Amino acid sequence: MGADSVGKDPLRGEMIALTKRLIAHVENGTTDHANDVFREPVTNYTDTAKWQREREVLFGKSPLLLGLSGDLPEPGSYRALTICDIPVLLIRGDDGVARSFVNVCRHRGAPIIDDERGKQRRYTCVYHAWTYDTVGCLVGLPSADAFDGLDRSEHGLRQLPLEERHGMLWGILTPGVPLNVAEWLGEALDREFGGFNFGSCEWFVSYSIDAANWKLAMDTYFEAYHFASLHRNTINLITYNDVIAFDAFEQHQRNGFPRRNVLELRDRPETEWEPLNHMSSIYKVFPNVAVTVAPEAVLISQVLPGPTVDTSITIQSTYSRSPIDSDERRVELDKRARFIRDVILEEDYFLNHKIGAGLRSGANDHLTFGRNEPGLHHFHRMVEEFAHR
Ligand code: FES
Ligand SMILES: [Fe+2]
Repeated sequence: MGADSVGKDPLRGEMIALTKRLIAHVENGTTDHANDVFREPVTNYTDTAKWQREREVLFGKSPLLLGLSGDLPEPGSYRALTICDIPVLLIRGDDGVARSFVNVCRHRGAPIIDDERGKQRRYTCVYHAWTYDTVGCLVGLPSADAFDGLDRSEHGLRQLPLEERHGMLWGILTPGVPLNVAEWLGEALDREFGGFNFGSCEWFVSYSIDAANWKLAMDTYFEAYHFASLHRNTINLITYNDVIAFDAFEQHQRNGFPRRNVLELRDRPETEWEPLNHMSSIYKVFPNVAVTVAPEAVLISQVLPGPTVDTSITIQSTYSRSPIDSDERRVELDKRARFIRDVILEEDYFLNHKIGAGLRSGANDHLTFGRNEPGLHHFHRMVEEFAHR
């Protein structure tokens, strides 16, 4: 039984319908189209005030997909990462509950742990060794008698909103802001994510890759129009050029891309189809994450604004949909993860830095998104709507 069959039936129905749309596009030489050509002002990528507002509103106040449950496989597991200057520490507590904290010591502000992953029962600050447990409580400090009257219960790690839903970790980077993931996703996407069994995914590897402005980096994920040119000898060998099935899910979206073997399905009864072997279903979780679901793996690309308007970092993580229990499996996952990393690094983001420079040159006052690039239209409309209205 393939991984497609693991999901609930409604999801299988969705994936089959998506595959049929893609087969029709390939047969007819068509693709999903937006109604109009879209013009995006270049200042939307270069204006520091706009960028600052996007950091504050989209990254500081909105729900973000922070990873999968497999990032925190066991009690005591942690993952630390920095998003828009906010150091975040995710820990699965001894009680099994995943929590999010600001990765800052309550004594005098040192980081509790470097950006990385691991597992431990006690989190001891490197500076003066104040120590916290897996649920963020301050459980020890050297020379405690020097801190007369210190209420330990008020000096636990600063907690941030976190919700674990459908095997995914969702958070908001401002304390106390209400978080409702089902509402943020909307009914249809919430149901679709519920069918993928993300909770059983095991984390395998993450890479960090530099690019230009965060929206310019995001732009690389929304269309298939560039496959035959930029990815001539890589993605284009696997996936059709310039064919997309686009669906908006509120501010989010799904992009279906047909694989070169998609027409083989025409000769097989539908009950035998494993859709994800013949097309890619890639979700863009607003504002900054691409989730690629393949039969054997899930790829999460988190695009994070860097310290300046023209920089960003993408954390690209590969998760296995089946247990990583053999060398053969590890080799397979490693090959897959490196292939995608190299395409992004050497093709998409290699060009991304140059496009960033091109935007600064003043040659264009706007970028033009064709009707065959509907995902770009939707993404930039949603950024305007959520951050700038
Ligand atoms: S800053 Fe952490 S123990 Fe002093
Ligand atoms: Fe690309």
